[in-house]
Amino acid sequence: MTTLELLHSRRSVKAADMVAPGPNAQDIQDILQAAHRVPDHGKIGPWRFIVFNEGARQLFGQTLKDIYAAQNPEASAKLLEHQQNLFLRAPVVIAVIASPDRAHKVPEWEQHLAVGAACQNLLIATHALGYVGQWLTQWYSYNDEVNQALKLAPHERIAGFMYLGSATQAPTERERPDLSERITHFPTS
Ligand SMILES: Cc1cc2nc3c(=O)[nH]c(=O)nc-3n(C[C@H](O)[C@H](O)[C@H](O)COP(=O)(O)O)c2cc1C
Repeated sequence: MTTLELLHSRRSVKAADMVAPGPNAQDIQDILQAAHRVPDHGKIGPWRFIVFNEGARQLFGQTLKDIYAAQNPEASAKLLEHQQNLFLRAPVVIAVIASPDRAHKVPEWEQHLAVGAACQNLLIATHALGYVGQWLTQWYSYNDEVNQALKLAPHERIAGFMYLGSATQAPTERERPDLSERITHFPTS
């Protein structure tokens, strides 16, 4: 596949539909190497990665369940079990953490754009290696207690959780915005 074909064919697969195998240790290294090589104004590198392998996914599921239960006392046992199993949906999960340098002269907005580029490179490298991925935030990307459990610094936030694995069948295409409606040529009328 050419690089252009790769980019044109990337699609997410739902984490719930993923199966083993996920990327192995060398694959993960290669994927993160790609994520780490993105445009980065000021050479700040305002991102970091937390990798969840087998045992860690189980462990963190329990943490998510505990936090959810404490914050939603009325939650049913079924809903709590769902939280516990969230990280078991895919063989590998990687959290991408935005870690901006707020004192730097490069605007924080630009640093977040670089983190987004890292996320996208991560997904493209995953696709290039023949795996599938899904970028999810869900409730646990916006929760102070989850941030504490992941030992995030006060200035850090979660850009997303990248669920990685294999697909049993090729994803079908989804509806996308009409590209021609998104392109204008200057000067616009
Ligand atoms: C920052 C970010 C957060 C996302 N969070 C979720 C999410 O929590 N739940 C969800 O269903 N899709 C989420 N998505 C969308 C999916 O990752 C995916 O992009 C979408 O299903 C479209 O499919 P495609 O990637 O094949 O174009 C998120 C995407 C981005 C960029």
